[in-house]
Amino acid sequence: KADDKVAMMEAHELLAKLYHHCLVNTAQGAKALQYLKNRGFDEETIARFQIGYAPNSWDTATSFLMRRNVPLELCMQAGLLGKREFDGKYFDRFRDRIMFPIWDRNGKTIGFGGRILDEGEPKYLNSPETLIFNKGSNLYGMHLARPNMRKKQQAVLFEGYVDTIAAWRAGVTNGVATLGTSLTDDQAKLLKRNVASIVICYDSDQAGIEATFRASSILAKAECNVKIAQMPDGLDPDDYIQKFGAEKFNRDVIGASLTVMAFKIQYFRRGKNLNDEGERMLYIEEVVKEISLLKNAVEKDHYLRQLADEFNLSLEALKQQQFQINKQQK
Ligand code: CTP
Ligand code: MN
Ligand code: MN
Ligand code: MN
Ligand code: MN
Repeated sequence: KADDKVAMMEAHELLAKLYHHCLVNTAQGAKALQYLKNRGFDEETIARFQIGYAPNSWDTATSFLMRRNVPLELCMQAGLLGKREFDGKYFDRFRDRIMFPIWDRNGKTIGFGGRILDEGEPKYLNSPETLIFNKGSNLYGMHLARPNMRKKQQAVLFEGYVDTIAAWRAGVTNGVATLGTSLTDDQAKLLKRNVASIVICYDSDQAGIEATFRASSILAKAECNVKIAQMPDGLDPDDYIQKFGAEKFNRDVIGASLTVMAFKIQYFRRGKNLNDEGERMLYIEEVVKEISLLKNAVEKDHYLRQLADEFNLSLEALKQQQFQINKQQK
């Protein structure tokens, strides 16, 4: 079984090289290369992240691996090949896709994410869970980001490949991604072992905001110091950098990240008319409820005072309301 793991990683290594070669040096890869260039990827970035292209073919990877005497059954178990039921023939699982290798924390390739060019479903075809690829315990880009994380004592958490890479080009070299799945306790612990503080920088669409709430509570549980980066209009980090540039991303997104409470306050505010009494009361109740969940008494006091000041309420009244909310929650 240990041998199987080694062989699976070797197969990944070989294919990562093949896919990268197809992208960079072959005519079949030309349209994929153009696609990446249109999206702002330069040669250095493509090399650093070993981005590749899986040709539109059923047997490019299969016959390549066969020629290298790699056991194909193992490659199928590793999620690299498929197998036809009626005759047991192997075929390429990734076809006509941009290939992002996924590494473990030591930089060994353990999976791939394959992006379709332009529109289509599924947008990303990813390696399944295998003997070597455990999604919930891995973070994309960790082996590249780790030294920078430690230097800055901060990590930035993204949703996906493209955001991690675009941020790297913008100078944010301490970023990793959860790859679309929810952050797990294992991933939070892995971060906690390396840094004191974590900035969540997920997409600013509804799905991203909900994922941000979930990730922030998982990180808080792991006793990480959490900040949240904000972007406007449903943009994701890559969109934002394309639109506003690297400097503004560093300053106004990463540099201006908010505490979790400040982020939640902004969130509750969104779309509410605070001049309307009913909406204002609802807002105050939401914020008080959130404050009552804070563990730190000084922080609690700070946000209660802030709320009291803003709406000209007595601190006593807010404390009373908090007391009632606590009672309801018990
Ligand atoms: N994802 C996935 N499968 C999908 C959609 C998304 O695995 N069908 C994962 C990918 O890791 C992706 C991440 O979730 O990078 C975030 O998804 P999304 O925001 O939809 O994609 P982007 O990263 O913005 O990719 P792109 O900019 O290429 O559209
Ligand atoms: Mn190269
Ligand atoms: Mn998204
Ligand atoms: Mn996105
Ligand atoms: Mn995107």
